[in-house]
Formats: sequence, structure tokens, C-alpha cells
Amino acid sequence: MKKTILLLAIVAVVSMLFISCGAGTPAKPKIGVTIYKFDDTFMSYVRNTIEASAAAVGADKVELSVQDSQFDQPKQNDQVDQFLTQNVTSLAINLVDPSAVSVIIEKAKAKSIPVVFFNREPAAADMAAYDKAYYVGAKAQESGTMQGQIAAEYWAAHPEADLNKDGKMQYVMLMGDPSNSDAAFRTEFSIKAVEAAGIQVVKLAEDTAMWDRVKGQEKMAAFLAANKGKIEMVFANNDDMGLGAIEALKAEGYFANGKFMPVVSVDATPPALDAMEQGTLLGTVLNDATNQGKATFELAYAAGSGAKEVVTSVAPLANADGAADAAGKYVWVPYVKVTAENYKE
Ligand code: BGC
Ligand code: CA
Repeated sequence: MKKTILLLAIVAVVSMLFISCGAGTPAKPKIGVTIYKFDDTFMSYVRNTIEASAAAVGADKVELSVQDSQFDQPKQNDQVDQFLTQNVTSLAINLVDPSAVSVIIEKAKAKSIPVVFFNREPAAADMAAYDKAYYVGAKAQESGTMQGQIAAEYWAAHPEADLNKDGKMQYVMLMGDPSNSDAAFRTEFSIKAVEAAGIQVVKLAEDTAMWDRVKGQEKMAAFLAANKGKIEMVFANNDDMGLGAIEALKAEGYFANGKFMPVVSVDATPPALDAMEQGTLLGTVLNDATNQGKATFELAYAAGSGAKEVVTSVAPLANADGAADAAGKYVWVPYVKVTAENYKE
């Protein structure tokens, strides 16, 4: 008899627990995050902010799991499968290969799990295929234009920069991963802005260094060897490659005894700001890792908690083109030009 009463009591308690977790009161949101590779300087700042934002909300209110996709799209697909099996309530995905987005969207859609893409922008058609897909990023065209403006302003103020006195800017370009639209846009719009300032350009060399500092150094060393004394301007799609280029330039005697080379990049990471302080990096463009990480977390948290309004404090929702739109699914974080005048701010 006693045993039966005890059993009944246990059953009652257990079923009460189930009822209290049932409909109406959403369980603690569980966010599954993937980063295309941890070994990317800029993404490590974004990741830090996502983790700090979750910590600020509190481990009792949100569960966060962050995985390194190690630059391997099949691996990332497996990580997404695992997250879905573990019943995450939302996903935040930094794609390895933006062209693989439809696979991820299909997986998320099948379980009606919201997904926030960030940094590597999916094609608009893929985004439109799922009403619970969001994107947080920055308009790479803008960063390219700002790079070109920094280069053009320097050129106008420094007639000695035209080494061969032909009135044209002989430049080299270090590109990021060509599958990433940030790389393509920065490459295109930096040069367009130089031309818009009325300066003719000659491309001496252009190659990808995959956003990587060591590869940037190697490519720049090759550019220097093939174009002895001819290079007048160096563009790098990000700071890591720009800093690698500066190492290669130093090895050739630049940044000593009055020998200078203008190098312009993007991100404004702490090491890049140090290089500006040292007078090696001419300028960069702030790619706001903090606000991108914050917006990514806030959207994933709101969507994963079943909030009616999925918004972030960082910027209003917009459409793919950047126009404000309350029904939009994009958050665009602005870039800021960083030069000798404002880099300390
Ligand atoms: C950043 C790069 C980074 C890349 C990763 C870009 O927006 O400027 O530094 O390597 O994103 O996808
Ligand atoms: Ca020239």
C-alpha cells in the first residue's frame, strides 16, 4: 500500500513537471552557433561578442553552443544536424561556403527553426525561401568605397607617391576568399572610388590570400619580386592580409629610412590599429565585430524564444538593399573610415 502511494506521488510530481514545461511557457532557448573557422581573426571578435552577450543574459535564461566548422562545409552541415537533433530553438550560422546555404535552410525549415546567418551573406533568393531566415552583416561595397577614398586622399596630398610620374596609380590587390562577396565587393568598389576621384589606375597584380596574414605576406613578397620599384599602392580586403603585406614590405626595407608604401585594408582590428600607431598601415575601415556579434545574438535569442517581434537594439530591420523595412530580415551594421585623424577614438 505504502509503495503504491509513493509511486502515485512520484507520478503526480513528474506529470506536474511536464505540464509546467508544456505549451505557453517556452523552455529555455537553446542557440546553436557555427563559425566558418575559429582561426579567423575578425570572426574571433564576433564570436567573443556572441558569447559575452549570452553570458550577460545569463546561463539560466539561454543555452549557447558554439562550434568551429574548420573551413569545411560538410562538417558544418553535420554540426547543424547535431544541433537540430539536440532540439536547439534557433541557429546562428557563419557559412563556410555561401553557395551551400540552401542545404542548411532546408534542414532548419523542416523543423521550423529560425536561422540567423551572419558575415557570409546568402543569396537573396535563398533568404527569400524561408520566412525565418535572417542576415546580419555589413555592406561590403561601403567598405571598398571607403578604402578607395583613403587611397585617393593620400594620393592627392602626396605627389611623390606617383613614383614613375605617369599620373597613374600602379596598385596591387590582396583579395579575401573569392567565394565571399565581401572580397569581391571590396576589390571592385575600392578601385571604383579611386577612379571616381579622377585618378587613373593600373593594376599590377591581384591574387587571393584567403583573408590570411601569412598568405598575405607570401603573396606580397611575390608581387614585390615581380614588380621591383613599380608598386605605388597596396589594397588588402582585410587587415590580416594588410599586416602580412607590411611584413613583406619591411623585409624589402620599407618603413625605414624614409621608404614608405601606402597600405589600406578593412576591419580595424586591434593589431591593425597598432600598425597605424607605428605608421606602417595608412588606413583601414572599421568592420564592427561588436555590433555584428550583438545583433546576431539578439536576433537568435528573440527568434529562439518565440518572441513575436524579432528585433535587435543594434539597427532597425531592413531589406536586402539596405532600406529600412519593419518586415525586413536583414540587419546592416555600418562601416566607419579609420585614418590617422580618428583611429584613437
Ligand atoms: C572580414 C574578414 C574575415 C571575413 C570572414 C570579412 O568581413 O573583413 O577579416 O576574414 O569576413 O568571412
Ligand atoms: Ca604611377
